[in-house]
Amino acid sequence: MTSNPVPVLTLDGPSGAGKGTVGTRCADRLGWHYLDSGAIYRAVAWRALSDGIAPDDDEGLRRLCRTLHFQSVAKPGDVVDIYVNNRNVTSEVRGEEVAVHTSRIATRPVVRESLLKLQRHSRELPGLVADGRDMGTVVFTDATTKVFITASADVRAQRRYKQLKDKGLDGNLRALLEAIKERDARDSGRAVSPLKPAGDATVLDTSDMSIDEVVSAVLDLVNQHLHPIRPDRNK
Ligand code: C5P
Repeated sequence: MTSNPVPVLTLDGPSGAGKGTVGTRCADRLGWHYLDSGAIYRAVAWRALSDGIAPDDDEGLRRLCRTLHFQSVAKPGDVVDIYVNNRNVTSEVRGEEVAVHTSRIATRPVVRESLLKLQRHSRELPGLVADGRDMGTVVFTDATTKVFITASADVRAQRRYKQLKDKGLDGNLRALLEAIKERDARDSGRAVSPLKPAGDATVLDTSDMSIDEVVSAVLDLVNQHLHPIRPDRNK
């Protein structure tokens, strides 16, 4: 049981499972804050790339994390803008090159350790929806509700392909599938905070579910945990 009065919903899972859309919609419906932890890792990777800091340069990475001023601003339509040191870097950090570099940087204990405080700082009333890979297992172990959202690699690659097409961008389905599998292997196989469901998480395979169905299943879980039905003592 948590002693922290701020409720937290953690959404963990592999890339492309729909956590971002589900997370922003749940946050919107609950009126809670939203933490996109992947965006923080991406911001670090993007700065490391632009400052020429190698993924094994622990001192350089520690310094970078210490001076990183990160801000995310939710906009209508499930869109979240990312600011690093007051510069809008949303499109830069969302690219595939940064994504691949991010999964390398994210294996470094120094980076994970340095970003813990920043992530825990987002826990503010009336509540927080935290999206990532280790939200339920490491960052918010006392969360009110933990959900692990997954879908088959094929379905995730197709969703990503459609997203790119909708934005008028080119995508190669086979290359996207390979990139997803590579990232999954790195995220699940790393020694520190590997991607896995928390022991007390509910696992949702969304391969055959619509976004609305996932959002409503997750909100049902939150409601059950916030307002548990107590046995009637008068009977
Ligand atoms: O969620 P998103 O795809 O933006 O995350 C990018 C990468 O950041 C992931 O592939 C993973 O390597 C890393 N990440 C992480 N821990 C988190 C969130 C993201 O290691 N909590």
